[in-house]
Amino acid sequence: MGFYREQVVPRIVEKACGGAAMTPLRDRVCEGLSGDIVEIGFGSGSNVTSYPPEVTRVLAVEPSTVGRGLGADRIAASAVPIEFIALHGEALPLADASCDGALCTFTLCTIPGVEAALAELRRVLRPGAPFHFLEHGSAPDPSVRTWQQRLEPMQKRLADGCHLTRDPVELVRRAGFRIDTFESFYARGPKPWVYFTLGRATAPQH
Ligand SMILES: C[S@@+](CC[C@H](N)C(=O)[O-])C[C@H]1O[C@@H](n2cnc3c(N)ncnc32)[C@H](O)[C@@H]1O
Repeated sequence: MGFYREQVVPRIVEKACGGAAMTPLRDRVCEGLSGDIVEIGFGSGSNVTSYPPEVTRVLAVEPSTVGRGLGADRIAASAVPIEFIALHGEALPLADASCDGALCTFTLCTIPGVEAALAELRRVLRPGAPFHFLEHGSAPDPSVRTWQQRLEPMQKRLADGCHLTRDPVELVRRAGFRIDTFESFYARGPKPWVYFTLGRATAPQH
């Protein structure tokens, strides 16, 4: 892992995704979660202050040591216990149907094996458990989408494999989850990067 990817990217992510402007969205995506939650792409723990009190434990999955370190103060101050259980979402060291919910924010864009990671979430969630996600992705407007396609190769190089053209709802649906609700909208910022989707899905029977 190069210096840029290891040291710089997690700091950029924390600044870009971790600001106060994101807090209401983070509060909304965490709302309604309870029990033992698995969070993939934990990053520097920007969701920690949004976990509802009904969450009893967060099983965090994150490959970046620097990202985890940047979140150390938040993690230490968290009322909800946080355990790092794995580096990669593609293989979770958890039993089938052992989690009460799952969370990911701005991560389905980045995970190399996103289908495998979603299959793992489906496996470890108990049937009927919620999966909440907040992601950026492919925009509906042809002109924005064209720019996303043009910019994606650069984005992948600069932002540790982050894609601009993935469709989070389609990915979650294709993984076998039932999509309960989702809303997609442009947040403030340059359009290719800020077409956000806040979604809630349910794990099916195994
Ligand atoms: C854009 S950041 C989002 C971080 C955080 N969830 C947030 O909302 O600010 C994407 C995160 O996914 C992590 N990631 C990359 N590959 C991963 C993988 N295979 N499994 C789990 N997380 C991964 C990155 O290290 C990074 O922390």
